[in-house]
Amino acid sequence: MKTDNLIDALTTQGYYVWDDFLTPFEVADLKEAIPEDQLQEARIGHRHTLQGNREIRGDLTLWLDPTMGEPIAQYFKKMEEIQQSLNQTLYLGLRDFETHFCRYPSGAYYKRHNDNARNQNRRKVTTVLYLNESWQPGDGGELLIYSREKPESDEVILSLPPKAGSMILFLSEDFPHEVLPTQKMRESITGWYLTERFL
Ligand code: OGA
Ligand code: MN
Repeated sequence: MKTDNLIDALTTQGYYVWDDFLTPFEVADLKEAIPEDQLQEARIGHRHTLQGNREIRGDLTLWLDPTMGEPIAQYFKKMEEIQQSLNQTLYLGLRDFETHFCRYPSGAYYKRHNDNARNQNRRKVTTVLYLNESWQPGDGGELLIYSREKPESDEVILSLPPKAGSMILFLSEDFPHEVLPTQKMRESITGWYLTERFL
């Protein structure tokens, strides 16, 4: 796997959009392997009721592990290779990777947030792999990335449609971001490289 462009982009701008991370066939296999019957409403933290939670994010999630089948195991393997490459070149000290499948029903969104709020800064790099074939302008569901230079401002530096096979990676601590309301069911796999191993 060629990671030069990723390393360059993370170093200079702090994020990278990998347009053809998976082929359409690989996306189809991965979707097929997700045990959808186990999807649950996403929770933010113990202080939020599910009701309050829904005003912040409306997706369903399912934590993944490599035993869920070959396509998911292959995804973990690719993410492991990237982890090694990031550690060898950027010395990020990444120790582990956690990842969940997300489904946003039509109308769902995820308000502006940072990925590190309750994780004591263990999340260093966020990855989001999109699984939506034939996404059209007007379908909504764009990922907005806000400026890290002006985190208190509303300056959007990237508006990314969730197109099948593309993946964005960004430094988790640096970028506030949000998911705009989607007009169609929107599926993705979010992951985080962590600096410490879970006990
Ligand atoms: C998240 C998130 C962005 C996306 O799951 O924390 O911000 O584009 N996802 O799905
Ligand atoms: Mn996020």
